[in-house]
Amino acid sequence: MLALLLAAAAAHPAPPPVFTRDIAPILYKHCAVCHHTGEVAPFPLVTFDDAHKRARLIADVTRTRLMPPWKPVPGYNHFANERRLTEAEIATIQRWAATGAREGDPAKLPPPPQFNNDWKLGKPDLIVQLPEPFNIPADGPDIYECFIVPMHLAKSTYIRAVEFRPSNRRVVHHSLLFTDISQGILHKPRYPCFGTVGLFPTLGLGGWSPGMGPIRMLDGAAPPLQAGSKLVAQVHYHPDGKPEQDQWSVGFYFTDQAPVRRVVDVGLTSNDIDIPAGDPHYVVRAHFTIPVAIDAVGIIPHAHLLCREMRGWAILPDGRKQWLLNLRDWDFNWQDQFQYAHPIRLPADSRLEMEFVYDNSAANPRNPNSPPKRVHYGPGTTDEMAGLHVQSIPVNMDDLTELNQALWGAVMRSVGGSFYRLPKSK
Ligand code: HEC
Repeated sequence: MLALLLAAAAAHPAPPPVFTRDIAPILYKHCAVCHHTGEVAPFPLVTFDDAHKRARLIADVTRTRLMPPWKPVPGYNHFANERRLTEAEIATIQRWAATGAREGDPAKLPPPPQFNNDWKLGKPDLIVQLPEPFNIPADGPDIYECFIVPMHLAKSTYIRAVEFRPSNRRVVHHSLLFTDISQGILHKPRYPCFGTVGLFPTLGLGGWSPGMGPIRMLDGAAPPLQAGSKLVAQVHYHPDGKPEQDQWSVGFYFTDQAPVRRVVDVGLTSNDIDIPAGDPHYVVRAHFTIPVAIDAVGIIPHAHLLCREMRGWAILPDGRKQWLLNLRDWDFNWQDQFQYAHPIRLPADSRLEMEFVYDNSAANPRNPNSPPKRVHYGPGTTDEMAGLHVQSIPVNMDDLTELNQALWGAVMRSVGGSFYRLPKSK
């Protein structure tokens, strides 16, 4: 039977793919959101000409899955908004490049995607704009800048959705948004920041990267926003060869509906990081046992430049292993925040575990030190961090306090650990 099918296939080989019929729909769906004029990617991939002159390169970056940027290993967890090509799409691109990257019938070209800079959810209830444009030099290293902008909010409310909108999409790689009510130690309107924002913000709103759209809060879980709060935004700028300016804004959508559910950050973190120069495989582990049942709705991994692999899972009380994240080839530049396609239920007494692997050898192209240097825990570009943040909703809201208390206990132990840690015997 199989032989017959193969013979039939050989007698009628599938025609070579052509741009208008086979390739354009893939590029429109998976690439153009970043690869169009005025966007963050270095060139557009919309017209036949755009794609034809880079056919070989497109074939390479899709075969190696460098593009679209998406780091979780398939087959472990399903996420909303996965930026992944199917095997069939990759094969089509390879055949197209290998058979002369032909155009095909221009009449078959589907309508190109339309992109505009409008607010995706309509007019926001509040727009907070950076008061002055921020200057990005023509070249030099990437810039990570934190901005603190007053929101002038007279009365407390709840946040339904948020959208980050750069004024200049060519240079904005990603941003992380928070609000803070504490008058805090930081009165500066902006300051360079890399690993952390340098304060404990009251509320994390989520992250933005090109094509990710607005951040919508889960139904019934609109977080409260207190009057007098300030917006804290960490923005990653990537110089693009000419001096640029950006004056971003953030649109807020409010609701009167008080939350009936709360998203809690169950963080597995370690500050016990001391990576010898040249060590190609340094492992950092942490764990936390949840005292109450939760639904994991998303996961946010965090490390700096040396980290290569990030794994997180739960050992359930019956001994089974539930994956939470398996990510290879970590790239600080694509630090996405992952939302599960479906919440993952974890019973009380599940033990959450994480394991990050760092490569501090000269063979790691992302190593910021040449030759490699010993690297410690810290917030700077050449320091390292390890954090896996499971966004969790207690199944029973009455358990919220118990969960928060357990988390506080873990935080206090880790702070104690950094003060009283015994010197490591080597
Ligand atoms: C989320 C945004 C995004 C998406 C989606 C995306 N790209 Fe890219 N692409 C970039 C950025 C940004 C760069 C510049 C390099 C970098 O920052 O990683 C890039 C670089 C490239 C390069 C140049 C690589 C090199 O080595 O010079 C190619 C080719 C490419 N992309 C093709 C694609 C194709 C094909 C797709 C769709 C299958 C795609 N990209 C989807 C953002 C994106």
